[in-house]
Amino acid sequence: MITVTAATGQLGRLVVADLLERGVPASEITAAVRNPEKAGDLGVRVVKADYNEPDSLVSAFAGTDRLLFISGSEAGSRAQQHQNVVDAAHKANVGLIVYTSIAYADRSSLALAVEHKATEEAIQATGLPFVFLRNGWYLENYTGQVAQAVENGVVLGAAGDGRVSPATRADFAAAAAAVLTDPVPGSIYELGGDEAFTLTELADEISRQSGKTVVYRNLPEAEYAQTLAGFGIPQPFAEILADSDRGLSAGELFVDSGDLHRLIGRPTTSLSEAVGASLKSE
Ligand SMILES: NC(=O)c1ccc[n+]([C@@H]2O[C@H](COP(=O)([O-])OP(=O)(O)OC[C@H]3O[C@@H](n4cnc5c(N)ncnc54)[C@H](OP(=O)(O)O)[C@@H]3O)[C@@H](O)[C@H]2O)c1
Repeated sequence: MITVTAATGQLGRLVVADLLERGVPASEITAAVRNPEKAGDLGVRVVKADYNEPDSLVSAFAGTDRLLFISGSEAGSRAQQHQNVVDAAHKANVGLIVYTSIAYADRSSLALAVEHKATEEAIQATGLPFVFLRNGWYLENYTGQVAQAVENGVVLGAAGDGRVSPATRADFAAAAAAVLTDPVPGSIYELGGDEAFTLTELADEISRQSGKTVVYRNLPEAEYAQTLAGFGIPQPFAEILADSDRGLSAGELFVDSGDLHRLIGRPTTSLSEAVGASLKSE
């Protein structure tokens, strides 16, 4: 049995679909989700698994050979939530934990990495076989903002001339499905897209494809956090995002291991393809 947590999220849905496409029988996939009513269309077995409810997790993981533990989305609350997941996996004696972490989790200075590092350590402390998928930035973090960038003529950030090598959720999901179907226990993959770019190059690509002039405006970290908060992003999360750009400027979201390309067996989606798809969908 392959169990996928957070399978109703954007990444989890893609992983379940990818597993089915690879020929894993639906009866051998369990979607372990906080809101089972959102999972009816996944086409696999569904059980309740809320990171805040330890009992739900232990019963959800019973009989699991391979667990894909997708990190939760409530940054700041994940230390206890993730410990609950790890404890439940230990109690259920799952055969393998595959965890979606962050680039360079063991040495990253990003505020976002603190909970991932703690989770990796908790998993290792169980003694269970594991694989860490240290996912870099999602390309959608940028291509989701293309329409806004075209409208305002500007991409904002605090990343300076740092290079980032993001990949689409679909590419990260394909890597997770590949590992779940053919795991090498003990592996730690640093995952990023084949192509790296600065945010100036991102703005240039949007300009090229949209025909409108878009420039990158670099802000000091604190000012960028205030600007994001002004757009309605909760202050603590705005600060985490600005801090991530600080890390990006220092190369902490630049991954050139080639692990993602190797795992999925094809080139990752390029910036130009992703910007093109984003402009087409508007
Ligand atoms: N690499 C990056 O750039 C990047 C960017 C954003 C996030 N992330 C991380 O990657 C993860 C997956 O990304 P995504 O795009 O799939 O995020 P997403 O679409 O926001 O999905 C998050 C998933 O986490 C589930 N979840 C949240 N709290 C939970 C809880 N207490 N118990 C059980 N499930 C819970 C949500 O359940 P519901 O469906 O019930 O809401 C949802 O399915 C995120 O959660 C986050 O840790 C990475």
